[in-house]
This record gives sequence, C-alpha cells and structure tokens, in this order.
Amino acid sequence: MFKVKPVAPERLSALLERMPKAELHMHIEGSLEPELMFALAARNGLSLPYADVAALRRAYVFNNLQEFLDVYHQGTQVLKTEQDFYDMTWAYLQRAAADQVLHTEIFFDTQTHTGHGLSSDVVINGLHRACVDAQAQWGISASLILCFLRHLSEAEAFEALEQVMPLRDKLVGIGLASSELGHPPEKFAKVFAKARSHGFRLVAHAGEEAPPAYIWSALDVLKVERIDHGVQALKDAALVARLVQDRIPLTVCPLSNLKLRVFPSLADHNLGQMLNAGLVATVNSDDPAYFGGYINDNFTQTFAALGLTAQHAYQLAFNSFEASFVDTSAKRAMQHRLTEVFETFE
Ligand code: HPA
Ligand code: ZN
Repeated sequence: MFKVKPVAPERLSALLERMPKAELHMHIEGSLEPELMFALAARNGLSLPYADVAALRRAYVFNNLQEFLDVYHQGTQVLKTEQDFYDMTWAYLQRAAADQVLHTEIFFDTQTHTGHGLSSDVVINGLHRACVDAQAQWGISASLILCFLRHLSEAEAFEALEQVMPLRDKLVGIGLASSELGHPPEKFAKVFAKARSHGFRLVAHAGEEAPPAYIWSALDVLKVERIDHGVQALKDAALVARLVQDRIPLTVCPLSNLKLRVFPSLADHNLGQMLNAGLVATVNSDDPAYFGGYINDNFTQTFAALGLTAQHAYQLAFNSFEASFVDTSAKRAMQHRLTEVFETFE
C-alpha cells in the first residue's frame, strides 16, 4: 500500500474533501432534501403533513432503523413522474461530484413506487437519464442497483425483478434493503439465485442492526460480493477472518449509524477497528438528506471523532474504488488519481 506522508491535523479535512472517492451505499430516495420534497409536492398538487421545511427537518429524529424507514417512506410519496426521479438524482449527482466522488453506485427500489401506482420504467428511466447527463456535465460515473424490500415477500421480489428485466441494461446489480430484523437474507435465496443467473452483481444490507448470522447468510446463501453496513461483524472473530480472507468489502455509513443509534456516538464507532482488523471498509452516506450529511461530512466528522489519519483516508478511498463494480482498468485509473492527489497535497 502507498505510504502516505503525514498531514497536519488541521489540514486533514481539506484532504478528505479533495480526495477522489467512490460512493457505494446511497439510497437515492434518501437524498431527497426537504426543499425539493416541498417543490415536488407543489408540482404534483400534493400537500405534506408538515408546515414547512424546518418542521420537516425537526421530524428527522430516529431511535432505530424502523422509525427512519417510516418517515423515509412518507417522503417518497411526492415522487410521481419521470422528471421527479430525474431531478432528485440530478441534485444528488451534482452534490456528489462536488465532494470529489468519481463514481457512485446508486441504490433505489421500485417496490415503494409501484406500491404508489407508478411503473418501474418511470423510476428507472428518470434515474438513468440523470446519470447519463451528469456524466456529460461533470464527468461523474454512476450505475444503478435495484434493492428488494425485505419486509415484503420473496414472491413480490420476483415480481419486481420480472418487471425490470426489459430495462436490465440500465442496472448493474441487485441489493436488499429495508427492515432488517426478522427478515434474514435467506428469505430471498431463490430470487437472488435468479438475479445471479441474469448476470447481476449482488449486494445486501446485513449486520446493520441484526447479528453476524445475517452476514454469514448474505455471503453463503445469497452469495453477495459486498456487505452493506456490516458493522456487527466485529462481534464474530470467525466472520472477521472470513471477510478479511475473501476481501469482502463493507460499505459503512457512520452518520447513518449515529442517527439510527447503532452506536451512541461517532467516537464509539468501530470503523477504526475494522480497518485495523484488515477489513475492506468504505465510507458512504446511506440517506444523506435524513442523516445530516453527504459523503464528505461522513469522512470529516468520523475522522475527527476517531482520530483517524491520512493513511486511513487513503486506504478507505482506495478500497472504495477496489470494491466498485467498474472494470479493472477504470479502478486503476481512479486509484491513480487518488495517489496523485495525496502526492501533491500540501
Ligand atoms: N437500511 C436499510 N434500508 C434502508 C436504509 C438502511 O440504512 N436506508 C434506506 N433504506
Ligand atoms: Zn442503506
């Protein structure tokens, strides 16, 4: 690994902000800022159960994942047209490009929206068109990962998969999101096997709130290539050994973990321990509009709380490119840009 020259603590935030990075765990519906939510509600003739943006933001206090998901689901109801999905995605990509995200793999789901009477095509075409335009405008590359909602049945996941197959070429992978506890990965064994047969790359949320057993079954039953969150892995030494051995990336989301009370404070977060254990951890924003920060906020706040160094920063950004679903030459090109920034940073 490239040996990073020491950076003065007061210069570390500037380095983190300037550092090229990939984002691999961000739900696009979780990037819908209150201002845009109100604008879309007005455009679609809907009213929100909050007086204004400030009142809505005040409702963003959560005790666990489920409390968040209930508020998040309510917010998705303003999304009605392809243009709405485009505008939401465009806003995120602009923000991500400003945070020096060179490549992002965006989670979305169709089941929420088909449940509101929309078709999957409206969702995917809006997201995809924004990704194409953002690449032309800012040079950011973006791909799309469809998440099944795990609180719904496997039969419903099959239905969602079937519906998106005509748009298969616009998607890179399949993931698993929503209420974790009580909905273990193995509930989706058959539909993940089907997705794999179609050539989708596979990921799953596991070990956010639920125990290490969920990470084991995401690996062994679903055969995923990355684990989303995975912070509970450190409770199981044999699992850590497996994740290190197979170089399975973990897409960690520190501000999400803080806001959903997975850890009592950022100073208690185990990201530093994960890196020290040799795990392929990355830093991501999860639902930035709800959790108080985009990817650079996640980096700067976590580094300040844990006293992490420029060497950790390089490792995390290097991992993010390594863990991405782009081809090897694109990974090496982005890692090269990363090294250049570290070499020239003063
Ligand atoms: N976990 C599970 N499902 C989600 C999340 C999360 O952090 N964010 C949006 N959907
Ligand atoms: Zn997530």
